[in-house]
Amino acid sequence: MPTLLELEREARSCVACPLASGRTTVVFGVGDPHAPVMFVGEAPGRDEDLAGEPFVGRSGKLLDRLIAEELGLERRACYIANVVKCRPPDNRDPLPVEVATCRHFLEDQVRLVAPTVIVTLGNFASRVLLGTGDGVTRLRGRAYPCLGGSLVPTFHPAAALRGGGVVLAQMRADFVRAKGLLADRGAPREGHA
Ligand code: URA
Repeated sequence: MPTLLELEREARSCVACPLASGRTTVVFGVGDPHAPVMFVGEAPGRDEDLAGEPFVGRSGKLLDRLIAEELGLERRACYIANVVKCRPPDNRDPLPVEVATCRHFLEDQVRLVAPTVIVTLGNFASRVLLGTGDGVTRLRGRAYPCLGGSLVPTFHPAAALRGGGVVLAQMRADFVRAKGLLADRGAPREGHA
């Protein structure tokens, strides 16, 4: 298993799929490499492609707010990544071949960070990590075992920005579920102190 830094270096020079030719930056992931909670989105948008950091646009501002208000954490205390590390053109959904090429980066990130809780943001990340075709509306409301942690599916912040109060309230409830799981697992794990 590489280190997180080695994995990032590998991703930064990756040209394994056609998204490489359209990217400004590889958006690998940011945050505490031993974070208790990891957020997983779909793919970088325009702002993220330019900044080299996931969730820095409008969706990211809402994510930061929910992290602060519902988990009582700062963004930098979490780890944040996407399924696909390069921006798809015109913000289209990543293609199956792009996901298949890129997913080993995410799976290794999850194994290396080893979060207690993984929060998937939206249909796309939830389906990829749970290996299901079900949508987040059906999946949310419970936690699932995933890569050694508990996975809590919730909506993508963009859905809350579009869909208003009901979606936001459901996201808040999902974040509360994540907080409960973090509390259940208690203090930092062995080797992570
Ligand atoms: N949407 C995502 O899924 N990821 C980002 O990094 C930004 C917006």
